[in-house]
Amino acid sequence: MTVVAEPTAAPVHRRVERIPDACAMVIFGASGDLTRRKLMPALYQLARERLLPPCFSVVGNSRRGMSDDAFRAEMRTAVERFGGAVETEIWRGFEQRLFYVQGSSDDASTYQRIATRLADLDRDCGAQGNRMFYLAVSPSLMPGIAHNLQAAGLSKSAGWTRIIVEKPFGHDLQSARQLNQALHAVFSEEQVYRIDHYLGKETVQNLLVFRFANGIFDPVWNRRYVDQVQITAAETVGVENRATYYEEAGALRDMVQNHLIQLLTLTAMEPPVAFDSESVRAEKVKVLRSIRPLVGAGVEQIAVRGQYGPGLIDGQRVVGYRQEPGVNPQSSIETFVALKLHLDNWRWAGVPFYLRAGKRLPKHWTEIAVQFKQPPLALFGGTQCGQLAPNLLSIRIQPDEGISLEFAAKTPGPGMDVRPVDMDFHYATSFGMASYSAYERLLLDSMLGDATLFARSEGVELAWAVMAPILERWQHEPPPVFPNYGAGTWGPAEANALLEVGHRWRNPLPTPQPQATPRIPA
Ligand code: BG6
Repeated sequence: MTVVAEPTAAPVHRRVERIPDACAMVIFGASGDLTRRKLMPALYQLARERLLPPCFSVVGNSRRGMSDDAFRAEMRTAVERFGGAVETEIWRGFEQRLFYVQGSSDDASTYQRIATRLADLDRDCGAQGNRMFYLAVSPSLMPGIAHNLQAAGLSKSAGWTRIIVEKPFGHDLQSARQLNQALHAVFSEEQVYRIDHYLGKETVQNLLVFRFANGIFDPVWNRRYVDQVQITAAETVGVENRATYYEEAGALRDMVQNHLIQLLTLTAMEPPVAFDSESVRAEKVKVLRSIRPLVGAGVEQIAVRGQYGPGLIDGQRVVGYRQEPGVNPQSSIETFVALKLHLDNWRWAGVPFYLRAGKRLPKHWTEIAVQFKQPPLALFGGTQCGQLAPNLLSIRIQPDEGISLEFAAKTPGPGMDVRPVDMDFHYATSFGMASYSAYERLLLDSMLGDATLFARSEGVELAWAVMAPILERWQHEPPPVFPNYGAGTWGPAEANALLEVGHRWRNPLPTPQPQATPRIPA
């Protein structure tokens, strides 16, 4: 069954139609990958949809020498490559507001030049000093940038000032604390927007709507009805061109500490008293506090790591992680993690939350699967309770965004045979429109001053605290024999041993590849 959205229903919440105040955005790291792949395409889309404030300006900064015009040309190429075709008229208007200031982020004179440029823009546009500083740089540079902004008098203005911080937010608990302290020495918590792009995904926000705008799910959303929850972020890509970063990070820091933990908190949180940043983030923090602390040797019972070797992805032969360009041939960095977490709170006591993230897995697939308990009695002939497929709610974050509920149905015929079937909602068919990209939504929210979809300092530190015993153990214990899974498989066999009796990982079949046309025998 496919669900189609009611065409006449007026959207209840049209906040996105608010246009932010005139403002300027300074991007540190403007010649980097993130600016080209995500930020510029998102800003251009916002311009196309007329959601940017009038006279919105961008000031890019990096060490590379470039004129405003060279920056504009480079950004156009980036938008075309990563965001699709640009409409010339719209681009012309947009690019006039792109500027570039060259300079190292640890050089005080860079900030003087940025300040002068911002003052000019304020004067030209009446931006009234509204500014956001986007730190698309390595975390080690962030404290220095915050300090230099203050020294140049840029941490305050006649309008509002916000600082947006990209992930990774620190490297571990200690560095995250230090970074929070460095930011708080200059900015108040309300001024700091910590980005986790998963929170900007339409399907992730829909999780909140699904849970709290429908009456029927809340009564079963607890330990009495839920048997287990599996949250998987599977990628077919390998480390791509990011070996330098990834060799420092690994899958636990790259995907689990942030994205998967965010999905966990949204799945498990209590209803907030209001949909605002304080209430939502306070409930998420409670979930993080309830994660059962891990200790020493206990880590082995709840955490498994893996690293991919050579194999086949989409029918193509790919190299192992250690053979990727820029990777240490003896690297012990994990490209796969599986965790079993328990939440010691009233709602979820006893329900395992399995988390899994990996690169070079057979299918690109991010899903939250809530599996319900079996009915108490086998009523139907030969079908025993244990043989019935349990009810399963699958929240597909990407691709094929949607939600399906698997339940038992009678197979047509004279007997009472039972078979699982699906009720299925697909974004694409129900709404027939493309969703906003995560960065569009998050950039717009930060301009509007809405921090609901951003991480709070306490939340980030608690998430690192959950990871700390695992990171510590893995740092001191040599990894299992790496590589321990082949590219194109569902990770190391040890991940199965994490599961409780009767539980299995949900491993969908790979997306079928187009077959070569069979030859017709002569
Ligand atoms: C990033 C990670 O945060 O998320 C990448 O650094 C990962 O390694 C990416 O590939 C996945 O994001 P998405 O939106 O493609 O699921």
